[in-house]
Amino acid sequence: MKILVTGGAGYIGSHTAVELLDAGHEIAIVDNLSNSKIEAVNRIKEISNREFKFYQVDLLDENGLRNVFLENDFDAVIHFAGFKAVGESVSKPLKYYYNNITSTVMLLEMMSEFGVKKIVFSSSATVYDSSNKPPLKEDMKLGTTNPYGSTKFMIEEILRDLYASDSEWAISILRYFNPIGAHKCGRIGEDPNGIPNNLMPYITQVAVGKREKLSVFGSDYDTHDGTGVRDYIHVVDLAIGHIKALDKISNNKGVFTYNLGTGIGCSVLDVVNNFIKATGKEILYEIVDRRPGDIDVCFADSTRALDELGWKTKYDLYNMCLDSWNWQKNNPNGYEK
Ligand code: NAD
Ligand code: UD1
Repeated sequence: MKILVTGGAGYIGSHTAVELLDAGHEIAIVDNLSNSKIEAVNRIKEISNREFKFYQVDLLDENGLRNVFLENDFDAVIHFAGFKAVGESVSKPLKYYYNNITSTVMLLEMMSEFGVKKIVFSSSATVYDSSNKPPLKEDMKLGTTNPYGSTKFMIEEILRDLYASDSEWAISILRYFNPIGAHKCGRIGEDPNGIPNNLMPYITQVAVGKREKLSVFGSDYDTHDGTGVRDYIHVVDLAIGHIKALDKISNNKGVFTYNLGTGIGCSVLDVVNNFIKATGKEILYEIVDRRPGDIDVCFADSTRALDELGWKTKYDLYNMCLDSWNWQKNNPNGYEK
């Protein structure tokens, strides 16, 4: 198939682009590089040994986007593009609603205009209401606590409404749990701007000597060691989930929603200990107060993805740590030279 990958220069998009090319698909990437570097695109080409078109275009630029559709004959779109920093979304909600929602509506309008009615959308575990008891299942109650999460929830609603209005659409909504790790070759990986918000990039930056120590946010949660529990998933397993979701919507119309997680909850200290074991690096840490808004436990029930897509994860936490470190040690400054 010929796939448009929006946000394909970003962390999950770049890994999915490699898997799409390896699976024999053709792709074009659209990314405005607001949170990524052109070097990621060069490296996708290097790893896959394939050529494809890259457009530095903002999805909010209607003419720019129309040109991409005019120049290509797409079968489907995988839509990663969007802003994702939860804290920033609280202080700048309009920036998030505008970029994430308006750009998605514009993309869907363009797809309709060109008769491309297959889309895989990056949603998040954050759309589940915090009152649910894990493991989280797709039909559990939804509810969000910050503007970023609300953009994901609202886009899901838009997609459900779109299908209700036109049953020619084939839509896959993927709710990611906590992606970490990197491609085995260590050439692409997560490259956050500034101080990382998320656990694994913070740990790898401590290991590489860019940060002094990790702050562990809270040790009084109701978990096996008191620290927060999450469902960490290797980004390559996640990327492969997109190929399976694409297969599903290439043969079926409707809205199909899947959790992509391992189903295993790991605490902050489990991650730190596995990282030390996998890499031999010392990770200094101190326990500090809870981070506002954090919940104690979050992990997936991904049985639906197994039953309907034949998808299951391959990598364990130890391998996720190895691969995160392999990327960071080979690229101490990310994609910057
Ligand atoms: P990322 O920031 O690395 O990638 C997103 C890409 O989209 C970036 O390259 C950015 O430059 C681009 N972009 C943003 N706005 C754009 C616009 N208006 N036009 C064109 N390009 C634009 O993020 P990621 O971690 O790869 O996440 C990909 C998607 O998955 C996002 O939608 C994110 O919300 C979602 N998601 C991520 C996580 C996670 O933990 N990483 C978890 C759940 C869901
Ligand atoms: C993040 C996102 C959330 C998204 C989810 C899945 C934030 C605030 N939330 O949540 O919207 O749905 O990923 O991708 O970005 N921790 C520390 N020290 C740190 C960083 C984190 O102890 O320096 C702890 C956290 O308290 C948490 C765990 O590590 O218990 C994971 O944190 P993080 O990587 O930020 O992910 P989530 O909080 O799950």
